[in-house]
Amino acid sequence: MSGVNFIDVAKTYEDGTRAVKGLNLEVKSGEFLVLVGPSGCGKTTTLRMLAGLEEVSEGEIRIDGAKVNDLPPKARDIGMVFQSYALYPHKSVEQNLTFGMEMMKGQEALSGNEIDSRVKEISNLLGIAELLGKRPKELSGGQRQRVALGRALIRRPKVLLMDEPLSNLDAKLRNQMRIELRRLHEEHGTTTVYVTHDQIEAMTLADRIVIMDGGELQQHATPQVCYNNPANDFVREFLCQHIDEMVDTANQIVSKR
Ligand SMILES: Nc1ncnc2c1ncn2[C@@H]1O[C@H](COP(=O)(O)OP(=O)(O)OP(=O)(O)O)[C@@H](O)[C@H]1O
Ligand SMILES: [Mg+2]
Repeated sequence: MSGVNFIDVAKTYEDGTRAVKGLNLEVKSGEFLVLVGPSGCGKTTTLRMLAGLEEVSEGEIRIDGAKVNDLPPKARDIGMVFQSYALYPHKSVEQNLTFGMEMMKGQEALSGNEIDSRVKEISNLLGIAELLGKRPKELSGGQRQRVALGRALIRRPKVLLMDEPLSNLDAKLRNQMRIELRRLHEEHGTTTVYVTHDQIEAMTLADRIVIMDGGELQQHATPQVCYNNPANDFVREFLCQHIDEMVDTANQIVSKR
């Protein structure tokens, strides 16, 4: 089990953009944390710093209590699913899933049987069992996204990072996948940080939500607490009003039937 700490973390890009400011945040071991906020508020930057894909300008990031600022991505045992998912174009779906595991060496090395059983489990879960022999260019966008998700999950990393992983899926599949992601999380208890700009997605997936605006953390609490006791006007408008409006719309639709 692995916890994550951000201590006074800030990111200033080369052009002077201050994307993240003074971030203090604990992701508890085994927690499903959702980072939510409007476009440009610093969600992806936060995730990329944790993954080691972006340098930390100020402060410290710790995994399991150990500072990781200077560790390369590979040494952090983190699984990632990003908005733009790159699959290996010349490998089959199955090879895309297993590639990361076949590279595991020494103590971490997995037997062929273990790899096969994980492929079976994950491909059934994600509904891609029939696609194992295909290549990425033969898949739809949603199917590719599920393969990318499978590739991150199958390795069972210490920490799982997801940046809008369901954005290319249709509404029905997105709902299904949300339920599956939650179920998977309950089963494996992997510490997870999930980024979305969708309030409903955040509310339904998270153990705790982190709401950001302008690179700054606005509130960090359970979905219920954020909704019932918004920390400030921004949270009230971004979260509470938005959800109330969705509920109103749903009620109007039902009352017209
Ligand atoms: N490489 C970069 N160089 C300079 N500025 C950047 C860079 N990447 C991001 N930014 C800026 O940093 C801020 C935060 O960007 P970030 O991508 O973290 O936002 P986000 O919350 O993920 O937004 P979205 O919901 O649109 O994905 C934005 O103002 C963005 O323009
Ligand atoms: Mg982003």
